[in-house]
Amino acid sequence: MLYRLARTGLFKFSAERAHELALSNLRRLNGTPLDFFFRQNLPIRSVEVMGLTFKNPVGLAAGMDKNGECIDAFGAMGFGFLEIGTVTPRAQAGNEKPRCFRIVEAEGIINRMGFNNEGVDQLIENVKQSSFDGILGINIGKNKDTPIEKGTEDYLICMEKVYPYAGYIAANISSPNTPGLRTLQYGEALDELLSSLKVKQAELEKQYGKYVPLALKIAPDLSDDEIVQICDSLKKYKIDAVIATNTTLDRALVEGMKNSTEMGGLSGRPVQSKSTEVIRQLYKELGEEIPIIGVGGIDSYVAAKEKMMAGAKLVQVYSGFIYKGPGLIKEIVKNI
Ligand SMILES: Cc1cc2nc3c(=O)[nH]c(=O)nc-3n(C[C@H](O)[C@H](O)[C@H](O)COP(=O)(O)O)c2cc1C
Repeated sequence: MLYRLARTGLFKFSAERAHELALSNLRRLNGTPLDFFFRQNLPIRSVEVMGLTFKNPVGLAAGMDKNGECIDAFGAMGFGFLEIGTVTPRAQAGNEKPRCFRIVEAEGIINRMGFNNEGVDQLIENVKQSSFDGILGINIGKNKDTPIEKGTEDYLICMEKVYPYAGYIAANISSPNTPGLRTLQYGEALDELLSSLKVKQAELEKQYGKYVPLALKIAPDLSDDEIVQICDSLKKYKIDAVIATNTTLDRALVEGMKNSTEMGGLSGRPVQSKSTEVIRQLYKELGEEIPIIGVGGIDSYVAAKEKMMAGAKLVQVYSGFIYKGPGLIKEIVKNI
């Protein structure tokens, strides 16, 4: 109810402006008596995944809090885990505005943000200021102006810096908004990236005396064969988890709707079944060997359950959270 009111106000602004306003208010209100707007005490629904204990399996997907500015406020909503980022080695502005569009009819979003973020050093400063007691995932990527052949270096720089502060690290190779990024999902480029990340992880484990799991975030726009190949690489390099999925380039389910021809990645309800299908196929290949984190169009308990029935051990929300608010977390956690 409260969120529906807030949403009516926020939806009067452009999608990006509404996002900025929401985040700055969350930052301002957290820890004050007014945080009753979003604070929720949820039942504990512990799950063990990647050797970590999550107080519940519902997480915030990457991209909502790219710089880790609102960790405690999102934590107060009852998320079992938060994935901040995508962060890149150096700060970058991202694509030209406007770059984020609601497709209200379909409860979808199209974005071409392009990894706008303040850089990994600032993200770490923000993490240091936070006191969230759940699992904090940090999602890493490459700068736009780093040539794709040198992309691995950017992931390694970020990994090295965030390692001591992360519950897990997610390598994002599936944003459609950084030219060439998705090519890292295939063949030798994927193997080179994964083997370098695993070597770095082993070095850092020794240095810090703790093992921080590594997850790979993939796109929904993959063929069956490509999924099989990715699974082979995930097993070969013993990657700790796979996050499925990022946004889609497919516009079939939003054709004719306002904003549907904007360039970028489509999320929300229109990607729901596509991402569940990818999870089903991943599970067929990976079974219980490598856990799947399911994301894409989760807007209800039923949608979260569907992802879990397809093989996901944890779920994340982004667009559903924009349309439904913190009540969505409560709905899922209470019924799980
Ligand atoms: C505005 C916006 C920005 C996003 N930024 C990122 C990002 O920086 N890194 C990332 O891995 N995913 C990003 N995503 C993708 C989401 O994390 C998620 O994978 C995708 O939206 C599907 O989930 P949903 O249907 O619940 O939104 C972004 C999504 C949106 C809508």
